[in-house]
Amino acid sequence: MVRMALVPRLLEARGLDATPPIRARLAQAGDEASARLLDIILHDEIGHVGLGDAWFRRLCGERGLEAEPTYRELLTIYGAPWPQAPFNEAARLAAGFSTAELAALAHPD
Ligand SMILES: [Fe+2]
Repeated sequence: MVRMALVPRLLEARGLDATPPIRARLAQAGDEASARLLDIILHDEIGHVGLGDAWFRRLCGERGLEAEPTYRELLTIYGAPWPQAPFNEAARLAAGFSTAELAALAHPD
């Protein structure tokens, strides 16, 4: 459960946010081939994050835990870097994050 939180839902999800600006810079520099490669990587990464999200939610459910608040608790317990907005909302929603969770991550208490 912790691994699903910290690897796909934190580290790989950061890749979802980071890819579009890098892609834009490559395209602006005229490197369309590399920009298209990042499109493929982003598409694949949504799948990776989505699998991690599904397992995280399942493992939380088996433990009687609410997934979204548990995720935020685990980030704190493990001293993980907090996800930084702006998020790639479309990609994160496609990977299983909810709008409410993204709002809670963008505006922590
Ligand atoms: Fe990945």
